[in-house]
Amino acid sequence: MPHRFPLLSEESSDKTPSLTMEIIFRLKVKDAMMTNLRTANKKDTFRVIQKVMRNNDISGVPILEDNRLVGMVSVSDIINALDRGYVEESVEPYMTKQLIVLEDDMPLSFAVSYYNKYPYRRFPVINKNKEFVGVLTTKDVLSTILNEMNNEITLLESQIFHDKVELPNQIIKEYIIKQFDFENAGHASFRLKKLLKEKEVSRKIIRRASVAAYEMEINVAIHSNGGKISFILEENSITIITKDTGPGIKDVAQVIEEGYSTANDWIRSLGFGAGMGIPNTKRVSDEFKIESEMGKGTTVKSVIFLEDTDEGE
Ligand SMILES: Nc1ncnc2c1ncn2[C@@H]1O[C@H](COP(=O)(O)OP(=O)(O)O)[C@@H](O)[C@H]1O
Ligand SMILES: [Mg+2]
Repeated sequence: MPHRFPLLSEESSDKTPSLTMEIIFRLKVKDAMMTNLRTANKKDTFRVIQKVMRNNDISGVPILEDNRLVGMVSVSDIINALDRGYVEESVEPYMTKQLIVLEDDMPLSFAVSYYNKYPYRRFPVINKNKEFVGVLTTKDVLSTILNEMNNEITLLESQIFHDKVELPNQIIKEYIIKQFDFENAGHASFRLKKLLKEKEVSRKIIRRASVAAYEMEINVAIHSNGGKISFILEENSITIITKDTGPGIKDVAQVIEEGYSTANDWIRSLGFGAGMGIPNTKRVSDEFKIESEMGKGTTVKSVIFLEDTDEGE
C-alpha cells in the first residue's frame, strides 16, 4: 500500500506532548483495534444485518467474502433500505464499497491522521494479506493511549537518571533513548557536540564524534526496544557506548556492510534506513565494536582518539 508518512498537522505536533507522540508512533493499529467482530455476507439481506446490529449493539457491519473485506453496512444504510423499500434485498448492490482502511501494522499515528483527514469515526483494519482483522474506533484509540501513558508515567517515575561517578580527568554523560522517540532522537549527540566544543576539542574530531553518536543514538531509537547512550570523555579519547534491551542483531558482520538495513517503509519515509549508519560510525571511529545477543540486546562501542596519534610526537 502506498502510504505517505502521516502527519499530524503541524499545528498539532507542536502542541502534542512528546509522550503522546511517542506512544502513537510506537503503538500499532493492531494494539488498539477491536477484534472478534460480527461480520456478514454480501448475500445477506438488510433485514438480517439489522438484526445482527440490534443483537450486538453495533452501528456498522463489515461485509466479507473469503475473509476479504468487500463492503460495509451502517445504520444509515439500513434506514435508507427501510425508507426505500429494499430491506428484504441482499446488501450487495447497496453497501459502501469504497472503503478507507487501515493496516494492522501501521503506527497508531496513521490512524490519528486519518481521523483528521476523513469524516469517519471507525475504520476497518486489514492485514498484509488484505484479510479483514478488526475495526478501529476513536474510543479504542483514546483508551489505548491513556492506558499506555499511565504505564509510561509509572516507568518514568522510577527512572531518575544520575551521571556516573567520574575518575579525575574524566567526564561521563548518560542519556536514555526511547524507542521511536523521534522528537528527542539526536538530543544526546547534540549535547555531546556542545560538551566537546566547550572542551575545545578540534572541529574535525567533533565532527567524527557527532556522526558516531548520532548514528548510534538513532539506531537505538529505531531498531531497538530502547536503551541508553554514554559518553566518556578522557584526556586522549572520547568513548561512545550504546546499550539496548533487544531485540539484538542476528548477524553482526552483515549490519556492518554498506546499504544493509531492516528499516520498514514508515521508518524510511522519515528519512532513516539507508543502511549507512553503522558503516559510517565504523569509518569515523578509531576503535569500533558491536556485541549483540538475540533477545538480550546490543552494545555498540566507538572510540575516537582526540589527537592524531602521529602528530606532535
Ligand atoms: N541497536 C540495534 N538493535 C538491533 N538492530 C540494530 C541495531 N542497530 C542497528 N541494527 C541493525 O543494523 C542495520 C544497519 O544499521 P545502519 O547501518 O545504521 O542502517 P539503518 O539504520 O539505516 O538501517 C539496521 O537496519 C538494523 O537491522
Ligand atoms: Mg542507522
